[in-house]
Amino acid sequence: MNVLILGSGGREHAFAWKIAKSSSCNQLFIAPGNAGTAEVGTNINIEVNDFESIKEFVLAENIELVLVGPEDPLVNGIYNFFKEDKQLMNISLIGPSKEGAQLEGSKQFAKEFMFRHNIPTAKYQAFTKDNLAEGYTFLESLEAPYVLKADGLAAGKGVLILNDLQEAKDELKAMVADAKFGTASSTVVIEEFLDGIELSVFVLTDGDSYKILPSAKDYKRIGEGNTGLNTGGMGAISPVPFADRFYIEKVEREIIKPTVEGLKKDNIEYKGFIFIGLINVKGEPKVIEYNVRMGDPETEVVIPRIKSDLLNLLKGIGDGTFSEKDLEISEEVATTIILVSGGYPESYEKGKQITGIEKVSDSIVFHAGTKQEGEVVKTNGGRVIALTSFGENMNDSLKKSFDSAEKIAFEGKYFRKDIGFDL
Ligand code: AMP
Ligand code: GLY
Repeated sequence: MNVLILGSGGREHAFAWKIAKSSSCNQLFIAPGNAGTAEVGTNINIEVNDFESIKEFVLAENIELVLVGPEDPLVNGIYNFFKEDKQLMNISLIGPSKEGAQLEGSKQFAKEFMFRHNIPTAKYQAFTKDNLAEGYTFLESLEAPYVLKADGLAAGKGVLILNDLQEAKDELKAMVADAKFGTASSTVVIEEFLDGIELSVFVLTDGDSYKILPSAKDYKRIGEGNTGLNTGGMGAISPVPFADRFYIEKVEREIIKPTVEGLKKDNIEYKGFIFIGLINVKGEPKVIEYNVRMGDPETEVVIPRIKSDLLNLLKGIGDGTFSEKDLEISEEVATTIILVSGGYPESYEKGKQITGIEKVSDSIVFHAGTKQEGEVVKTNGGRVIALTSFGENMNDSLKKSFDSAEKIAFEGKYFRKDIGFDL
């Protein structure tokens, strides 16, 4: 079949790398893609939110399956755009409906969903500028640290964790009354602080049955020891050592099953990935957030551990055979290290020549922010390259990724040398 992947990061390169290996894959396109996706498929210059151009392309190239990488087009309703169009309705689009995407697009929607279906999560209340005074009172009833979340999408920046009550009140006001995160923060969710280790579990569902993909842990801060500013992610490890079979069974019972059944009960169409961000509070898993897509860089460790044919699984979502398919996972540990541009996540320069990629032999090189210019590959984003390796244990695998990281060069290159330090 002909396949189109939407997106341009390391996640999309990992998807493309895996799908290109499938015997069912005829032609593979990535929009807009990067220098890495161009090695395994054909990049096309269409933006992920340009639904009309996507439609034209899908019809012209006889695309049968569209895999949506990032959340933006999902929250903007690309699933409904396909299902409501006579020419597109029979094309399989992997991703939730616009309503399902609200699990990520609105923190308040996600919280209400979890409470409605008895899914363990932090206590919360939601506020707007119209009940700001009640927000202050609620903050006074909590103990520090205070967790404030912009309701809408804020490019990963909408969560504030503050130790000082007055500062929390000031920030709440800045968010709801002064549009600190634009309209995304006109509603703010304030929630109880949960103390524990985070991990992510990933689920693929056809809306009826589901399969649990490998768990992973990512490292979001720019600095070693988890310090400094938040980034899109500086590295990831799969599996997460404490998330053994018994733990995952508990997560399945208390969180995954009620989530998939809750979507069904609420009549929300959902055929795609669910990324559940969890925090482990004294052995009890609680949901911090839902994302309606795979994570980046988690995809770069989760997808390579899948031994089964991913496209075959995705095809099953479209033709109703998903529940019959097997999902086989490698026992090996996968780690990925992200090489970023100097200055990231604040301002950084693009267009630096990248050398040494061909010297890497022990890792898979997934491109994130790169661009091909003639014979040369140049940096084109904050996160530039993900280096994924396998090992019998975490340290074996990490050693390969770190050795590979030394072989690639570009001006300003930075990476964290302590990924996995806390496990
Ligand atoms: P989110 O965008 O909801 O994933 O939040 C970003 C980060 O804030 C999470 O990865 C956690 O590290 C942290 N966080 C979010 N909610 C809580 C909470 N209730 N308690 C403690 N940490 C939290
Ligand atoms: N790595 C976190 C995310 O993709 O949202």
